[in-house]
Amino acid sequence: MMKQARTMGNAAKRIVLHPLQADRPGRSMAEEVVRGLSASPKHLPCKYFYDHTGSLLFEQICGTDEYYPWRTEDALLAEIAPALIDRAAPRTIIELGSGSSRKTRRLLDACETAGRYPDYMPLDVCPNMLAASAEDLTEEYPWLRVTALAGDYTLGFSQLSSHRSPALFIFLGSTIGNFPDHELGVFLSGLRAVMHPGDFLLLGADLEKDERVLQAAYNDAAGLTEAFNINILNVINRELDGDFSTDGFGHDAKYNRAQSRVEMRIVSKWAQSARLGRCDATFLFSAGEPVLTEISRKFSPGRLRDLLSAAQFSVDTLHTAPGPSFALLLATPRPSD
Ligand code: SAH
Ligand code: TRP
Repeated sequence: MMKQARTMGNAAKRIVLHPLQADRPGRSMAEEVVRGLSASPKHLPCKYFYDHTGSLLFEQICGTDEYYPWRTEDALLAEIAPALIDRAAPRTIIELGSGSSRKTRRLLDACETAGRYPDYMPLDVCPNMLAASAEDLTEEYPWLRVTALAGDYTLGFSQLSSHRSPALFIFLGSTIGNFPDHELGVFLSGLRAVMHPGDFLLLGADLEKDERVLQAAYNDAAGLTEAFNINILNVINRELDGDFSTDGFGHDAKYNRAQSRVEMRIVSKWAQSARLGRCDATFLFSAGEPVLTEISRKFSPGRLRDLLSAAQFSVDTLHTAPGPSFALLLATPRPSD
């Protein structure tokens, strides 16, 4: 279908890709991996899932029958987009953890219909994915200008405070559920700190539900989630000169009801060791030993409101999709107490 263009031009000229400036020094990948594999129980930071292969696998997971969050959020977004764009009237749409930006098209479509032409700023840790989706988007939306930021949002993003307002910040895919406890509040407060009066935040978060639905969503029959989970070892082998045998580890995803979260682990199938040449370190794994790779929190609407309130947001609207449930929250920055 032809789209109406306000300004036409070479798609490549409307894309800029910058590194995200970190606000605080981070640990190197070598330090983080050695730390996680030296801990008891062992764990690994989930951002290392997302090399190019991992990002493509995640896209495929989103298309499985079992992984309800993607299509549920997409449908809810399509439903609320026109009123949301009317309300937020964005000059800038800023997306954290944008990935393929596929769902973002729901908002861009609504903008186009309303005759609004905001700039788009996606931020992601995977530069390949950012570049590929910026190209697709500028071809599909001939008016769109994309300023993409490649980097780790857990190291701060105060650079975003110089945006054009009003801005609509979006954080979709229930990625908010993947933060460890201590990072959740830091992230939301950081977001609040870069927002100006009149800006909005749209947050997508998965809700508590029947355990069997959750169990299936993180254990798809085609084995894509398993491949995604194990791929973290390929990333480590490549980046840190490791010799992990990917055949020696299996996938485990279980719902922890007490903590309202799915926990994803890779599990050593037998006793083995793995060496990381770049770190001059060797790690031992016993048969059946788990390594925690990701948590995926399932929220109650009350908990979401509390989290946002604690980070100085006012919740404007809570939209929920029924069966399987998913929430999209629209929030505004609350003036500091
Ligand atoms: N928003 C998309 C993708 C969600 S997957 C959707 O809703 O479908 C999570 C995304 O966050 C991935 O694209 C991943 O590369 C990105 N990501 C994960 N950890 C990150 C970090 N620490 N900093 C920046 N981006 C991160
Ligand atoms: N944000 C997604 C979620 O929590 C991330 C995700 C989906 C994921 N499937 C996964 C992470 C499998 C690790 C493994 O649902």
